[in-house]
Amino acid sequence: MRSFNVHAMTKKHSVLFILLFLASISLLSITACNKNSVASAMTENKPETATTNKVNKLLAQMTLEEKIGQMNQYSNFFDVTGPAPKEGDAQQRYEHIKQGKVGSILNARGAKEVRELQKLAVENSRLGIPLIFGYDVIHGYKTTAPIPLAEAASWDLKAIENSARLAAQEATAAGLNWTFAPMVDISRDARWGRVMEGAGEDPYLGSRIAEARVNGFQGKDLSLPHTIAATAKHFAGYGFAESGKDYNTADVGTSTLYNIILPPFKAAKEAGVRTFMNSFNELNGIPATGDRFLQRDLLKGEWGFDGFIVSDWGSIIEMKDHGYAATDIHAAEIAVTAGSDMDMESHVYIKYLKEMVTSGKIDVTIIDDAVRRILRVKYELGLFDDPYRYCDEKREQEITGSGEQLAGALDIAKKSIVLLKNDNDILPLSKQGKNIAVIGQLAESKNSPLGNWRLGAEDHSATSVMEGLKKYTGNTITYTQGVELYKGNEGFIFELDINKEDKTGITEAVTLAKKSEIVIMVLGEHGYQSGEGRSRADIGLPGLQQELLEAVYEVNKNIVLVLNNGRPLAIEWADNHIPGILEAWQLGTTSGDAIAQVLYGDHNPSGKLPMTFPRDVGQVPIYYNYKNTGRPGPKDLVFWSHYTDQSNTPLYPFGHGLSYADFQYSNLNISSSVTEVKVTVSTTLRNISQVTGEEVVQLYIRDQVGSVTRPVKELKGFRKVQLDSNQEQEIEFVLTEKELGFYNNQGKFIIEPGTFDIWIGGSSEAKLHSTFTLNGQTKSDE
Ligand code: BGC
Repeated sequence: MRSFNVHAMTKKHSVLFILLFLASISLLSITACNKNSVASAMTENKPETATTNKVNKLLAQMTLEEKIGQMNQYSNFFDVTGPAPKEGDAQQRYEHIKQGKVGSILNARGAKEVRELQKLAVENSRLGIPLIFGYDVIHGYKTTAPIPLAEAASWDLKAIENSARLAAQEATAAGLNWTFAPMVDISRDARWGRVMEGAGEDPYLGSRIAEARVNGFQGKDLSLPHTIAATAKHFAGYGFAESGKDYNTADVGTSTLYNIILPPFKAAKEAGVRTFMNSFNELNGIPATGDRFLQRDLLKGEWGFDGFIVSDWGSIIEMKDHGYAATDIHAAEIAVTAGSDMDMESHVYIKYLKEMVTSGKIDVTIIDDAVRRILRVKYELGLFDDPYRYCDEKREQEITGSGEQLAGALDIAKKSIVLLKNDNDILPLSKQGKNIAVIGQLAESKNSPLGNWRLGAEDHSATSVMEGLKKYTGNTITYTQGVELYKGNEGFIFELDINKEDKTGITEAVTLAKKSEIVIMVLGEHGYQSGEGRSRADIGLPGLQQELLEAVYEVNKNIVLVLNNGRPLAIEWADNHIPGILEAWQLGTTSGDAIAQVLYGDHNPSGKLPMTFPRDVGQVPIYYNYKNTGRPGPKDLVFWSHYTDQSNTPLYPFGHGLSYADFQYSNLNISSSVTEVKVTVSTTLRNISQVTGEEVVQLYIRDQVGSVTRPVKELKGFRKVQLDSNQEQEIEFVLTEKELGFYNNQGKFIIEPGTFDIWIGGSSEAKLHSTFTLNGQTKSDE
């Protein structure tokens, strides 16, 4: 151990610090399939717990075929969430369940249906091992919560945890015991359709949200009937798909991998997440499903993860398309050796593993390790005590769509809304005596607000903006659609046919806008325009909505733009012209209520962006924690890092979000402890407005000089605080080695001496600034 000195520039503190370093992590991605080389990551040497004993006892009774069966997952035919299975009909799958050749089913739901399937396994297979039922409970189950990106905008960890808890409650009542959530992929690219499913661009915020979601889903005791096993996905690098195109190659350096991509996964693991899902993408030339370094060396080895890893849908056989596996058998061999424990819909484990073990190609210890992991989670869920624990139809009826569910959904929906712009206090709207026009097809939609991953929800079951607006006001509200956003089918598996031609409706919208005092325009993306397989190259307002907006603006400038979208949009024109802009994402079942309550000031908005909004799609990927470069500028000549036709700055920065209240920050203080790395940073926050409001106080650092360059800003703490008019509060943050250190290019966590900037404020453009210096020497405990 070595000590450090810290000097806060604003104060004359000089204080001793202690280092802490994490164990070394090998960077090499070893892809050779040596059958004897997995021992280090195996779990049989773990302390013998009661569960381990039970698992081992059961394992000893299992035939090789039965073991492999546990590693096989089939989709039910109910909701297909990937390319439809190529072979095997339902009947054959049911036979396999009876023969003990299936460990898990995905996409079955409902207490009754799950019970029937569970019966097939428990009452027919030789050992009666229960199935584990997986489902994409991503943002609620039947009662739909805001899309995860929207929830992240609440920066409210308790509300996010509660939302996951409620989702678990409703889903488990419908027979499910395993959710494929949370998706903890960091992404900097708004073109990528799945940004809606994550927590945005920042590893610190993403890690805290990952913990909250895991805790919410799993609770303290996984065996309780209302808790559900969670999945950290997609391990790893899926959010860095090149050009934001789904499933595309990811190519990232060590520093980005360790400091940006991996932290939320590690946080999920430390929060006790029981399963991981690997991913479709290749990362630096190795498909994640076949990446031994990620799965076996890092996750199961270095991090000590003792749950199991499921492949993504068909991702094992897709290694052939990647050009990484020659045949199906080869793909199975690579995946199982690399540490993928369960095969989702590739069907190659069930077909080939037995032959590979008997021919000596694969060591049975690899199979045993995978099966132990799977059985352990089944024991933890209490499935061996009662395989029908999650199949209580009475409970299903009571819980589904209950008052508690709806109240929770509304609470998080309101908190997810971000007030992007509010010139001349156009918002909140008064509730009486106004003549309001509502324009935009999305204003009437009861379907789009349910977002993309609402497999369990009834279509058209959300409250629309129009319904909400009428409910909370005495104003005269008149609606017209303007232009149609899309034509034809909408649904989880369809590409939306966006209307780019039919302008019928613009004239009527203009006529209505002319005679109204205020125009609320509800524009943006349909819920099915983001999500899996839904990347967009143009992230402006889709279709003819921009034209509609400009036409209406010509005749009435008192516009409040309510955005519905699953990703940051490039809406620079709107920002330049429209006085009020409210980011309302896809907010789920209670969407219309939440939006109306915010528009009318019944709820004061407090959301902050979890992802940077670009001015222009050409700036993407754009993110606040970028590197400075050697030519940051601005300079007189052209030779600096910039665009010649667009600013470097975002439209709305990460962390941005307004309130109907105003807040003032003052008194930035830094002090430090003498015995350990502990820097205390405090500020005074005052509500200088007439209304009560909530502010997310954000703390950013910059490590000015590093042996690996550090970002210009890094979020290292935040606190959501509610203050009444004129109330003030001192907010304190403590920075330790965890916040001040980083991973070097050998994958080691280090903390280095030097000067750090500190900013505190209401966004990543926080102004209150100070510095402190950490003296000493770098040291790594290995
Ligand atoms: C997605 C996963 C999902 C799985 C099962 C895949 O296509 O990438 O996130 O959990 O399907 O539905």
